[in-house]
Amino acid sequence: MEKDSEKLMQNLVALSKRRGLIFPSSEIYGGFAAVYDYGSYGVELANNIKAAWWKAMVQKNENIVGLDSSIFMHPKIWEASGHVSGFSDPLAECKECHFRARVDHLLEDVGVFADEKMAEDEINKLLVDNKDKVKCPKCGKSNFSEARNFNLLVQSNLGNFTGDWNEEPTYLRGETCQGIYVNFKNVLDSTRVKVPFGIAQIGKAFRNEITARQFIFRKREFEQMEMQMFVHPDTAMEVYEDWRAKRWQYYLDLGLKEENLKWHQHENLVFYAKAAWDIEYKFPFGFKELEGIHARGDYDLGQHSKFSGKDLSYLDQKTNERYLPNVVETSVGVDRTFLAVLTEAYTEEKLEDGNERVVLKFPKKLAPIKVAIFPLLKNKPELVKKAREIFENLSDSWMCEFDDNGNIGKRYRRQDEIGTPYCLTVDFDSLEDESVTVRDRDTMKQERIEIKNLEGFLVENLK
Ligand code: GAP
Repeated sequence: MEKDSEKLMQNLVALSKRRGLIFPSSEIYGGFAAVYDYGSYGVELANNIKAAWWKAMVQKNENIVGLDSSIFMHPKIWEASGHVSGFSDPLAECKECHFRARVDHLLEDVGVFADEKMAEDEINKLLVDNKDKVKCPKCGKSNFSEARNFNLLVQSNLGNFTGDWNEEPTYLRGETCQGIYVNFKNVLDSTRVKVPFGIAQIGKAFRNEITARQFIFRKREFEQMEMQMFVHPDTAMEVYEDWRAKRWQYYLDLGLKEENLKWHQHENLVFYAKAAWDIEYKFPFGFKELEGIHARGDYDLGQHSKFSGKDLSYLDQKTNERYLPNVVETSVGVDRTFLAVLTEAYTEEKLEDGNERVVLKFPKKLAPIKVAIFPLLKNKPELVKKAREIFENLSDSWMCEFDDNGNIGKRYRRQDEIGTPYCLTVDFDSLEDESVTVRDRDTMKQERIEIKNLEGFLVENLK
């Protein structure tokens, strides 16, 4: 990472902790690698990200319906999906200090890019070819073992009352979409949808990621927002292109700058896939996958038909044609969206008075707190009373925060650092003229607005 990018990353991590966006998990016990908790403002931002996705995918598309399937599923599902046999990353161990690392990451650090679909011997050859360049991130020596594939599924002992590990293990789901495929028939039989239609889901997924790095970019417990479109095989590529365009536009609407986005096409596709493109975002550590958009053919319904013994084909009532629908998938992590939105919003500004401020310029619809309400002085009951009344009214519609601590300048800085679009101050004039001072986060301009007009002002400006 370049110096500036490293500094930016450190600033994001520090601000996230200081201002209650993201905490390292189990911190008082020394932390727990690649697991993070969302703090009071982080959970608001994550909820707003999920609401924006749900609106764009479910609410605005009459042929897409929602689902919330369980994290635990029948273990056969993970055999059918190919995860038990093929969901793995190449792992090597430093022979000097026994540090274990993902080989594709070690290679990437020295400018050699391994495709994620590479076989074990191919990646080993790359490791051997670059053995003098590849250094252990812990001890700095160049002495790695051969790469071995390491399965990413997280096992659990759910329902295993004997403690016998020869019993078939259960898994915490490795991706949410399997819950969608196995409910394909249920959704079809219980709603008014017909092919082409989509099922969307937001939920936790778990992966035994080998290397914990890049903050919330790669977590072991993370949240996915996935949509699977079931389509006639003849229309699959057309639908696929359509979704590529829609998902690109979605990120622009979410406030990410186009120059910070780019397409990456997967060249070595798994045998069943027809196409796979990623939308990458320019994170502080470079362009990396934000979302994957995949044309998966009829692999998923085909495998689940085969392994469950249940016919998952679709009968078109109009044409009488029976076929196995193809799947077009869009898949993105809540956490990666969070990190992209946070990176995009982070701004350091030099002020006219020579001071500096850090401000998170979130799109207003994503901001954790929409309005902060301040009585000018905390020891003046009449100001506090009026400010509380305003809080009571506005908090019916928006996430508001009441703050009477410290001077107004300090309160502004605090709200800037959590990205609150508007701060309202109740002062002595408010008691006479029934108005408050409204300060805009981005321009820092202040204007007087009558209390009775605040609701309308916010409806107009928080869109
Ligand atoms: N169903 C397809 C699927 O799961 P993926 O490329 O493995 O495909 C899709 O994951 C998305 O899930 C990624 O683009 C990323 O946004 C998110 N994701 C995957 N692994 C993650 C991890 N360890 N931590 C955070 N997000 C992750």
